[in-house]
Amino acid sequence: MTMTAAVMYEPTGQKVQEIENRPIAVPFRKIAPAPLTPNPLSLPGLTITNGGVAGSRRDFLLTVAGGIAGLAIASWPARVLAQPAGGSPLRISTIGAGREGGALGALFVKAGHPVMFSSRHPDNLKGLVDVLGPLARAGTVAEAVEFGDVVMVIVPYTAIEQIGKTYGNALAKKVLVIDVSNPIARRDGNEIVKWADEQGGAGLATAKLLPGAHIVRAFNAINYAKLSEYAHRQGELVGVPIAGDDQHAIAIASSLIREIGFEPVVVGGLAMGKYLVPGTPLGGAHTAGEIRQALTSLH
Ligand SMILES: NC(=O)c1ccc[n+]([C@@H]2O[C@H](COP(=O)([O-])OP(=O)(O)OC[C@H]3O[C@@H](n4cnc5c(N)ncnc54)[C@H](OP(=O)(O)O)[C@@H]3O)[C@@H](O)[C@H]2O)c1
Repeated sequence: MTMTAAVMYEPTGQKVQEIENRPIAVPFRKIAPAPLTPNPLSLPGLTITNGGVAGSRRDFLLTVAGGIAGLAIASWPARVLAQPAGGSPLRISTIGAGREGGALGALFVKAGHPVMFSSRHPDNLKGLVDVLGPLARAGTVAEAVEFGDVVMVIVPYTAIEQIGKTYGNALAKKVLVIDVSNPIARRDGNEIVKWADEQGGAGLATAKLLPGAHIVRAFNAINYAKLSEYAHRQGELVGVPIAGDDQHAIAIASSLIREIGFEPVVVGGLAMGKYLVPGTPLGGAHTAGEIRQALTSLH
């Protein structure tokens, strides 16, 4: 078997073991926690951590739209820039329009969907939506919740409780809530990571915070800086492991994921959502086949 270095973490983000095999050749299991180590990947002006990217979000917002609208998209087939492949456009909102929210929302704009990007400071999103064109708009979180048929929650995990308290009833009425967020000790603190673990991991924990919502976890461990490059990749598509308990929501999520140029791979119910975090065998960019193979080590 081909040997490449890889470091694996349990869903909490704590380092559990170092292996040299990829595809995964050993069962995924917990061992005594050790301190976090930073992910070695770095980009100009950014430090990539286990929880995502530390760096200037303002800088990112100024560059993401241009980057997304640039080379990667220029190389896409013309058909992907036309009407949504799934038929009628869906109104999509992002709660959180930072690095991951900005990059992911931009892909849906490019796929032909109207997208409202939101934050508590929507004026800061002007640069992003101006570059993305008329399908993109910025709003408050309340406006985004109102606007979207589909709502993506892409915030630090600590923010979800308040979002649930304020908008839980409205979110429960949406056909799909995509949970892109992760509990990461380094950013969110040990307490919430421990709490999420006690609920059964990130998927079930989010369901508790957003009761009644039709949740699908997706894109949790695909780095924002790679999204546009991976979308509609030549050859075999990048797979997106997804987890959810609602079949209708899973069907919609799958269709949307295909439209933006990835292959959805249903890995199980929300209980499997704990593996959709950076550093687990399902984390990172893999083909659908690699995801299915990694999945066998989790059962
Ligand atoms: N970065 C990645 O590559 C990556 C990849 C996969 C998943 N994720 C996950 O995605 C989530 C966001 O990561 P990120 O890197 O995009 O973070 P980020 O760049 O810091 O952006 C966070 C966004 O959340 C918003 N936000 C924070 N608190 C909020 C609240 N209480 N209510 C509403 N919005 C709030 C922020 O807007 P305001 O502060 O302006 O309100 C901002 O738009 C995390 O859970 C992360 O684990 C990240």
